[in-house]
Amino acid sequence: MEQKWWHDAVVYQIYPRSFCDSNGDGIGDLNGIRSKLDYLQELGVDVIWLSPVYQSPMDDNGYDISSYQAIAPEFGTMQDMEALIAEAKQRGIRIVMDLVVNHTSDEHSWFQQACESKDSPYRDYYVWRDAKPDGSAPNDLDSIFGGSAWQWHEPTQQYYIHLFSKKQPDLNWENPKVHDEVHRMMNWWIDKGIGGFRLDVIDLIGKEIDKGITGNGERLHPLLKQMNQATFGGKDLLTVGETWGATPEIAKLYSAPERDELSMVFQFEHITLTWKDGDKWQPIALDLPEFKRVLTKWQLELADQGWNSLFWNNHDLPRAVSKYGDDGVYRTKSAKMLATVLHGLKGTPYIYQGEEIAMTNVKFERLEQYKDIESLNFYKVRTQAGVSHEEMMHALGENGRDNARTPMQWSAAPQAGFTQGTPWIEVNPNYTEVNVEDDQASSDSVYRYYQSLIALRKRYRAIVHGDFIPVLEQHDKVFAYLRTEGETRLMVVANFSGESLTVDLSEFSQSSAEALLSNSGRTTFDFNKLELKPYDAFMIKLSE
Ligand code: GLC
Ligand code: CA
Repeated sequence: MEQKWWHDAVVYQIYPRSFCDSNGDGIGDLNGIRSKLDYLQELGVDVIWLSPVYQSPMDDNGYDISSYQAIAPEFGTMQDMEALIAEAKQRGIRIVMDLVVNHTSDEHSWFQQACESKDSPYRDYYVWRDAKPDGSAPNDLDSIFGGSAWQWHEPTQQYYIHLFSKKQPDLNWENPKVHDEVHRMMNWWIDKGIGGFRLDVIDLIGKEIDKGITGNGERLHPLLKQMNQATFGGKDLLTVGETWGATPEIAKLYSAPERDELSMVFQFEHITLTWKDGDKWQPIALDLPEFKRVLTKWQLELADQGWNSLFWNNHDLPRAVSKYGDDGVYRTKSAKMLATVLHGLKGTPYIYQGEEIAMTNVKFERLEQYKDIESLNFYKVRTQAGVSHEEMMHALGENGRDNARTPMQWSAAPQAGFTQGTPWIEVNPNYTEVNVEDDQASSDSVYRYYQSLIALRKRYRAIVHGDFIPVLEQHDKVFAYLRTEGETRLMVVANFSGESLTVDLSEFSQSSAEALLSNSGRTTFDFNKLELKPYDAFMIKLSE
């Protein structure tokens, strides 16, 4: 496989609204991010994936764009954006923009003009259909944010489709003019010197509405090939698609290099394992054997074809340490365990802001504390359907998106040092213990552990390119694997449980082991009878 810079890279995701507020209005902004570039450089990351900062009425916190070539005033100006790109570049960090082109905001001028009349030249930029004879919606497609995906537009007497909120009308990707507009806009950003794109819900752009098909429509891959050729193809940029429905077979269609589509995709098969029957609002406990089976499958299937994105959380998901570790007594230890497992796998690791200090879920007590449109919509839909308030509050506490969106905890100062004003969403009350300043001052620093993991990635090619070989595959509490390249053999062993246990790794008893990193300070390894304390994890180098 041809080697690319983004194989070696580690990506850090910033949710701008919640990262750092420079002017006291309670909303994180571009100048706040600029003030933290040294922090990110020291961590060692190569790329920032910036969630949307474009002009937007913020119905979905910026994933509803009203102008693609303007910055939302609450985030700053285009000059601030250019300065961020340049200052990041000086530190060896590239900025990956979030490309949201499945839909726009209903306040985008295209949509506003489309609404003027059925004959508007912009009408076909969106998807309109007549009502059924009885006045009802054209079909029963549901919005991903709850309720019907169809919104009646009284003035022009047709429905338009919105797979997300009604303020996020879907673009019509069957219209070549839409392709031209989007490609032109992407090239405009590429010319600004960005490092690539994260393509929001990109698997939906090939939708075939009248057949009720939303994800993975027939036109999807041809559209991506066309986009590749018209924009980022041959430009050595990182492109990562958000693809909820991807199987390994589908992921190869996107990311096999000879197909000229994307660098990689985010797959969510390991994530949805804690959703009962695929329903996010029915959280269930993690089944580690299943989790291992899924991740192992992805490692093996994409070994020589395509490329994995590695992540435990993002701005749509609960905090990793709360979901897969223990956010109580073992908060820092289990966070390091999770980091070891993720960064040891083959693929490009993504760190979500705050993960590097083991920030936790917030679990608000009152509904009013939640701000996320998806959470609030579903609270309404489900309680109206008979689910109890308590059950929905539990679900929001487990899987609601605001868990990831409370402000970044910089210090024990008021509002966690995120803002001088009142934050747009409450800070997690645990900021007095969980914050960057205290973490960095601690001998137990999670940030420094991430630094070490990133440094190891730069030192050992086997971490980036080595083969993945599962170890202790049948074990129901321990995740272990080898990464091998030529003579180099690295092994990761991680206890995913709060129990002490002993494992038999006698097949390695002829080897000697050098500890590269461990979350317990361990330096000796008795493979015949390897004792693991709760959440113990390490990466070692084996030699004969
Ligand atoms: C993606 C984003 C999410 C957003 C949705 C609609 O899933 O990650 O935050 O709400 O698309 O744009
Ligand atoms: Ca601000």
